[in-house]
Amino acid sequence: TRHLTILGLESSCDDTAAAVVRARIENGAPVGPGRILSSVVVGQNALHAAFGGVVPEIAARAHAERLDLCVERALAEAGLALRDMDAVAATAGPGLIGGVLSGVMCAKGLAMGAGLPLVGVNHLEGHALTPRLSDGLPYPYLMLLASGGHCQLLAVRGPGAYERLGGTIDDAPGEAFDKAAKLLGLGYPGGPEIEREAAAGDPSRFALPRPLLDRPGCDMSFSGLKTALRRARDLLVERQGGLTAADRADLCAAFQAACAEVLAEKTRRALAQERARAGAAPALAVAGGVAANRTLRAALEQAARDEGGAFFAPPPALCTDNAAMIAWAGAERFARGARDGLDLAARPRWPL
Ligand code: KG4
Ligand code: ZN
Repeated sequence: TRHLTILGLESSCDDTAAAVVRARIENGAPVGPGRILSSVVVGQNALHAAFGGVVPEIAARAHAERLDLCVERALAEAGLALRDMDAVAATAGPGLIGGVLSGVMCAKGLAMGAGLPLVGVNHLEGHALTPRLSDGLPYPYLMLLASGGHCQLLAVRGPGAYERLGGTIDDAPGEAFDKAAKLLGLGYPGGPEIEREAAAGDPSRFALPRPLLDRPGCDMSFSGLKTALRRARDLLVERQGGLTAADRADLCAAFQAACAEVLAEKTRRALAQERARAGAAPALAVAGGVAANRTLRAALEQAARDEGGAFFAPPPALCTDNAAMIAWAGAERFARGARDGLDLAARPRWPL
């Protein structure tokens, strides 16, 4: 058997990452699970916390400063040198353009310097193929990607064959969690904070809407939920002059329950739609930071069980932004003959 060893770079949002992944190649295609020889992720939460969200200019500067070090560490931890790589893969979009540019330029320099092939990877494809890297999940499957920047239901039918069945029409769910946390005076990132508060809360005390659930299809909306939360908060503040710990917990529980129900119900619809199309329900796999939420996970697992499909949740470190998924997606593309030149462009928008 042949192997591909790929160096991956990721810098499209607020994590600077480099990883070395080895993929076994059979019949010209990588077969998972892949071997993650190293995976270095340097986050920027502390740099953005004061702003309650990612500040693009601060993120771009931090990526530019840290990419070299991440690459050095990833190679050292893998016990390999740049010349041992078969190719260099980097996220070429979609994402915050300054960060994407930093990663693409770094990858170009490495590829040119070491005489290695360069492969530009779509960040969404990285997430979409993660269950193949982690579990060797065979095609086809349904992927729910729910993060701070993205929300998509993707039918992953085969190599390079993706269909977007639905997604958010406004905010991404992680963004909604972050804004909700800010509204309630909680820290950043908001998802884990809300989940922690919600554990002590009653999800039924406040009736928050379930946006778009009454409409057909798999599209979702989260910005109205945030507005409803603000209204509930303002009402309490007006009446009592502030929020008690119990109020905050109940608001968090209600918000989390609404997000989980919307995501799980739309995912259930997508599973049913794919089952009708293919005759059997596809496996459901999740990715993105929001997929770490236990209430959401339980709801998704239930949806998969109801529709008769398996449920896969890669380990949290592979669900959030990382470069191992970019290296793996690079391997899948490289094995199929994909090569990029030094004219590879960084793209802020790049639908799969
Ligand atoms: O995938 P990710 O690490 O980065 C990108 O956005 O690309 O996702 C981060 C997002 C943040 O918005 C964060 O609030 C959310 O995922 N998140 C959660 C939880 N953990 C992280 N949302 C809900 N519940 C969680 N436990
Ligand atoms: Zn991501």
